Amino acid sequence: MIEFKKISKNFDGRTNVIDNLNLKINKGELVVLIGESGCGKTTTMKMINLLTKPSEGKILIDGKNILEMDKIELRRNIGYVIQKVGLLPHMTVGENIEIIPKLKKWDKEKREQRTKELLELVDLDYELYYNRYPNELSGGQQQRIGIARALAVNPDIILMDEPFSALDPITRKKLQDEIIKIQDELHKTIIFVTHDMDEAIAIADKIAVMDKGKIIQYDIPEEILKHPKNDFVEYFIGKERLWKQPEMFLAKDLMKKDVHKISLEGNIAKAVDKLKDSNASVLIVVDKIRDKAQKALGVITPNRLKASELKKKGINKDTKKIKDYMRTEFVAVDENTNMLNVLDIMSKRDFKSVPVTNSENEVVGIITSTSLLNLITEISPEAEEKEEK
Ligand SMILES: Nc1ncnc2c1ncn2[C@@H]1O[C@H](COP(=O)(O)OP(=O)(O)OP(=O)(O)O)[C@@H](O)[C@H]1O
Ligand SMILES: [Mg+2]
Repeated sequence: MIEFKKISKNFDGRTNVIDNLNLKINKGELVVLIGESGCGKTTTMKMINLLTKPSEGKILIDGKNILEMDKIELRRNIGYVIQKVGLLPHMTVGENIEIIPKLKKWDKEKREQRTKELLELVDLDYELYYNRYPNELSGGQQQRIGIARALAVNPDIILMDEPFSALDPITRKKLQDEIIKIQDELHKTIIFVTHDMDEAIAIADKIAVMDKGKIIQYDIPEEILKHPKNDFVEYFIGKERLWKQPEMFLAKDLMKKDVHKISLEGNIAKAVDKLKDSNASVLIVVDKIRDKAQKALGVITPNRLKASELKKKGINKDTKKIKDYMRTEFVAVDENTNMLNVLDIMSKRDFKSVPVTNSENEVVGIITSTSLLNLITEISPEAEEKEEK
C-alpha cells in the first residue's frame, strides 16, 4: 500500500503546488490521477520514486517511510513509464528492456528468458523485435517496449505518466486493453496519469480527480460518474459521458425511494383515496405500513380501481378488502438491474412503473416512466444542445 500523508510541495517561489494531499493506494489497485495541465499529477507521481522530494508530509510504502529508504533501491523496485517512452536510441529493444536486470546482475540466460516473457506479455514477437532499434518501431510498439521495460525486474509498483497520450486512438485503445490484461495477470500497484476521462474509466480501479494540487474526488469510476462531488468534477466528466455508459446506471440510482404503500388489511376505498392523493401509478401492498423496506405481498394499480369498473362489478369499495383485490403476480426489478434492462422491461410490457427490490426481495423503491424520462433528458447530449440554441 502507498500512503500520502499531508503531502505538500513547494518549488522555488511557488508554494503548495501540491497542497496537503492525502491519498491511499491499495496493493494491486490501478489508480488513475486525472486533472488539467499543471494541477500536479506528475509531481505527485514523481514523489513515489523520489524523483521529487515532498516539502512536507510523509509517504509510506507498505508502512515504511520512503524518505528513510535507499533511493536507488527504491527506484529499482518501481517501474516507470513516461509519455516520451524514454527508450535509448542506440540500444536494441533487448538491451533497453534489460537495463535494470543488468544492473541487478542477472546472468544473460535469465535476462533473455525474462525479455522473451515480457515481449510475449506486450504482444510483440521476440524473434522479430529483440534486435531492432527503437527508431524502427512504431509509436505504439515503442510504448509496448516501455511497458515491458518497466515490468522487467517484476516491481510491485508501476508509475505511468501519460504513457499513451502521443498515440493514435486505435493504438491507444489497444494498449489500454493490454494494460487491463496485464493487470488481470500480474496485479501490480499501478499509478497512471492521464488527461483523458475515457481512458481513466476504461482502466481504473479508482480515479483521483485533481485540481490545484488537491484531490477533489477519489473513488471508483462508477461513483465518480454517478455522483460527481462538485461542478469541477462534473465538468471534467462531461455530462454526455453518462449517456455513453447507460449500463452504469442501475435501478437503485434511478428509483424514487418514496414508495406508496398500503396495508393488506385496508379496504379499497382507502386505496382509491391514496392513489388519487399521491398520483401514484401503483400501490405496494404490505403486511403493515412501516418506514423500512418490506416484502411486497402484491400491487394495486389504478386501472383496477376505476370507479366505473367497481360500479359495474357491483363492488362496495368500503367493505371490499385490499387482499381480495391486489395482484400478487407482478414484475419487480432487482436494484442492481441496469438502466438498459429496466427500459427494456418497461417498454416491452408497457409498464408505467416497476417496484425495485433488494436481495431480500423487499421493496426499496419504484421506477416510473416519468422519472426515467427525466433522467434520459437530463443526461442526453441532444437535450443540452437544444437548450443552448
Ligand atoms: N521542477 C519544477 N520547478 C518549478 N516548478 C515546477 C517544477 N515541476 C513542476 N512545477 C510546477 O508545478 C505545477 C505542477 O506541475 P506538474 O508537472 O505536476 O503538473 P501536471 O498535472 O503533471 O501537468 P501536465 O498535465 O501538463 O503534465 C506546475 O505549475 C509546474 O509548472
Ligand atoms: Mg504531467
